Amino acid sequence: MSRDISIYKKKTQNSYKLFNESLKQHVNGVSHNIRYFKPYPFVTKYAIGKYIVDVDQNKYIDFWLGHWSLILGHANSTITKHIIEQASHGWMYGTVNEQTIKLSDIITKAVPIAEKIRYVTTGTEAAMYAIRLARAVTGKKTIAKIDGGWHGYTTDLLKAINWPFSESESNGLVNEKYIISLPLNNLEKSLDILKTVKEDLAGIIVEPILGGGGCIPATKEYLQGLQEFSHHNNSIFILDEIVTGFRFRFGCTYTELDLKPDIVLLGKIIGGGLPIGVICGKKEIMDKSNIAFNKKSERVYIGGGTFSANPLTMVSGYHTLTMLKTKHSIYNKINTLGNKTRNLLNKTFGNRAVITGDGSLFMIHFLQNNVSNVTNALDASRCDKKLLYNYHFKLISNDEIFFMPGKQGAFSYAHSNEDVKHLIEATTRFVDGT
Ligand SMILES: Cc1ncc(COP(=O)(O)O)c(C=O)c1O
Repeated sequence: MSRDISIYKKKTQNSYKLFNESLKQHVNGVSHNIRYFKPYPFVTKYAIGKYIVDVDQNKYIDFWLGHWSLILGHANSTITKHIIEQASHGWMYGTVNEQTIKLSDIITKAVPIAEKIRYVTTGTEAAMYAIRLARAVTGKKTIAKIDGGWHGYTTDLLKAINWPFSESESNGLVNEKYIISLPLNNLEKSLDILKTVKEDLAGIIVEPILGGGGCIPATKEYLQGLQEFSHHNNSIFILDEIVTGFRFRFGCTYTELDLKPDIVLLGKIIGGGLPIGVICGKKEIMDKSNIAFNKKSERVYIGGGTFSANPLTMVSGYHTLTMLKTKHSIYNKINTLGNKTRNLLNKTFGNRAVITGDGSLFMIHFLQNNVSNVTNALDASRCDKKLLYNYHFKLISNDEIFFMPGKQGAFSYAHSNEDVKHLIEATTRFVDGT
């Protein structure tokens, strides 16, 4: 590791200087805690296709892809053209615009549950409003989430993210007692926990694949079991598809899982990499926030905010989704790259690691503490996270491959078989200690 650090320091001298400036200006030098890694993160100069390039001209194959938002890769030429064209006609209207109607049209056709949509600027906001709506619609307070589930930094949901999932994640939170958490893929235990709050259960929020918590798919039976409990108890079932929406196919995962969520959250890909969050769902639920026909005493305010549905994001999202819809080869390509990578990583690591994920998403868990399979965040937390960090850092310092250390990787349309080969060769060197 110390050898990797000296290699990294040698080749990132401009980043070092600039990051010291950043440290003076910003909390911990970053604007999102997960963007920091030791000894200091490189500073990005530009990004194109599958590459992200730092201020020292190091060119990394990017598996982070802007928090997995760039399914077409960086600066895709078609999307760039449309963004530039839109920018020349104004990038911020603050009024109803045609660009939004076009994006919503394509979303509603692919996601039939989206009978009504409200745009926001981040996934965090979408999750915050979903919780508020669930509470308002049901008149109850308790929300169930999943251990390790990540829905952004909302005051409500900043709970049960890191092991042991029972301690407060941050100071400054209030009413934490109204958030309970469940072990992913353990339906029996989850239902036992839910039964203790069923009179006050406003909703359940769950990701189809635990993303930040370890790239772990939820089983169909588990999700269906949670949904059944939720509906049986007149609670709102919220599916957070901010990472999974339009990631594996043109649409959401809930259709394949035979689910009927009341509210679906979208983000990331649907803005084509520009800031976005979407809360959408059944008309009767979304309309609770309609100030046009609800009495003040009955309605619930959900926002949108200054930059919601800005035409630049709408255009970027519309053309990204249009490409995904019309170019069928995209999903085939990235899902195949993901499957191939999981298989080859499995072979390369043997019984030292478990590779989780689905389609174009993948993550490595180094086994220890008698863990032999990773099906929830507890298993993931007992794996060797330090080794994962060291592995990712070795790829950055020696092999010009970038994963945000410790996080899942993703493929984009800009990647190719060559990148799989490069990753596996680098991984083999890591395993061999060379
Ligand atoms: C599943 C999920 N929900 C919500 C969020 C929050 O979205 P944002 O970072 O846009 O606020 C994220 C972010 O990674 C996420 O992965």
